[in-house]
Amino acid sequence: MEQREAQELFAELFGGEAEDLFTAAGRINVIGEHVDYCGGKVFPAALNLRCNVYGRKTGGNVIRVAASDFKEVVTLEIDKLDSYKSLKWGNYQAGVAYYLQEAGTPIVGCDLLYDCTVPFGSGLSSSAAIEVSTAVALSEYAGVQYDKVQLALVSQKAENKYAGVNCGIMDQFASAMGKKDHAILLDCSTLEYEYVPLKLGDYCIVVANCNKPHNLVESKYNVRRHEVETALKEIRKVMPDLPCLAALTPKQFNEVKYLLSGVVSERAEHVVNECERVKKAVEALKAGDLVELGQLLNESHYSLRDLYEVTGRELDTLSALARKETDCLGSRMIGAGFGGCTISIVKKSAVDGFIRRVGKAYYDAIGYRAGFYETSIEDGITVSKL
Ligand code: GLA
Repeated sequence: MEQREAQELFAELFGGEAEDLFTAAGRINVIGEHVDYCGGKVFPAALNLRCNVYGRKTGGNVIRVAASDFKEVVTLEIDKLDSYKSLKWGNYQAGVAYYLQEAGTPIVGCDLLYDCTVPFGSGLSSSAAIEVSTAVALSEYAGVQYDKVQLALVSQKAENKYAGVNCGIMDQFASAMGKKDHAILLDCSTLEYEYVPLKLGDYCIVVANCNKPHNLVESKYNVRRHEVETALKEIRKVMPDLPCLAALTPKQFNEVKYLLSGVVSERAEHVVNECERVKKAVEALKAGDLVELGQLLNESHYSLRDLYEVTGRELDTLSALARKETDCLGSRMIGAGFGGCTISIVKKSAVDGFIRRVGKAYYDAIGYRAGFYETSIEDGITVSKL
């Protein structure tokens, strides 16, 4: 939505004009999947697909929120912020406001219009983009000094405790802290991070949505999280000081895996190997070895398919079709899985043909179309006056 259009809608819904624009990003993850909540390193990057929030401070005792595709105004009372958990839309905003307030931010009344270009349920973290953009808007209007990492943490808390999804920190961190043309190597156990240039030369990343209908992703996600927590508990019987599952080397894992039952063992094996792949992928990228990087992406997908079991026919088909292309170096699912997106490393000059052929073959195999996005890697949070 153009800014002018957004202003018109703002006037229609709230009266008057928006004064500020706050944005936070959707993300991809180059590699390091389902390891953030195990204390592993992840390698995400913020996208040009974003949640744009047009805002105005009112100073009253309510926050009014509305979305460009849901033109109804939801009113959140500032002294009752804990009572909106069951809202279908507006619960993320309420959760963020609630936990900011709990942490001492003096929440003030405002009107916020959300125009989110991150497709919902796509594995590109639309929820993190909504949370983080809300967190920055409310912090700015509260007139407090804030730190973007703290905003990411409050946003994660809202998702965990208010929306009930036990996610790790990757999405909110990338949404807030992304940097143009860089991926973030983030250690999820310490929150130390390093920006690494996402330099792909003649290649680029193609993001494709398998468009599988969104179905119980949150509950399946929470089950995976429980399984790896079980693995950690079992392993700690012989390694009581192990800080997290991601701290296990593959060699150590082989020595303790007798403690784990079938599925739990497979989940842990994925985590341990995926953490190794992250290290190798960052080295490969820094060395400009894109063939190796592509291979690691493929291995990540196979592990998510066979050991972590979060892919499904649609994502497997989409990434397999990509891999068949001679100008594609590697492809894998990203995010929680069970639907959502893949990323593929594709030669720039071959992108159009890639999209055409993979798109057609996917339609023939699955019966509905995949979506392909034109993406670029951008900054995380932005704040501007209108
Ligand atoms: C979702 C979660 C993240 C992360 C990924 C899997 O996107 O929100 O915290 O666990 O799944 O890597």
